Amino acid sequence: MRSHPSPELRMPDPDAIEIRLTVNGSEHRLRLQPWVTLLDALRERLGLCGTKKGCDHGQCGACTVLVDGQRINACLTLAVMKDGASITTIEGVSGGDALHPLQQAFHRHDAFQCGYCTPGQICSALGLIAEGRAATRDDIRELMSGNICRCCAYPNIVDAIAETMGMDAKPQ
Ligand code: FES
Ligand code: FES
Repeated sequence: MRSHPSPELRMPDPDAIEIRLTVNGSEHRLRLQPWVTLLDALRERLGLCGTKKGCDHGQCGACTVLVDGQRINACLTLAVMKDGASITTIEGVSGGDALHPLQQAFHRHDAFQCGYCTPGQICSALGLIAEGRAATRDDIRELMSGNICRCCAYPNIVDAIAETMGMDAKPQ
């Protein structure tokens, strides 16, 4: 049986590029091939599996993370394009043991069933709130339309986001 060479004996990969990412406040230096997506770098190189891979084609929003405060689909982003960026994944949303108010609202409003879409929903909602463009529940629905929930928890997700934004509890 052939055994794999130890990391020290592996030939250097001439295609690899060194980049620096600050992820949830911690700085990481990574050597990556230029075609590695940010999603795969987070999940497979940094072990941050909270960010989910749904479609891997930019259509479901499960992979949403915040890059320099803006929400993006990590599956459509090459990691090397984000050299020097500051990234927040779901693992970095809470403050230590205390859940973020948006996470608390998701919990209070039962805004998930299987939970697979939830990290992306929460990161996307944080981006939406920072954008300041949502004034109504319809705005929330429209601006969250890139995040699919196959369990159809949409009404509860909108309730959780609306509550966190201080909107009227009654649906508009
Ligand atoms: Fe990225 Fe679906 S996994 S949008
Ligand atoms: Fe299951 Fe959204 S809670 S996909």
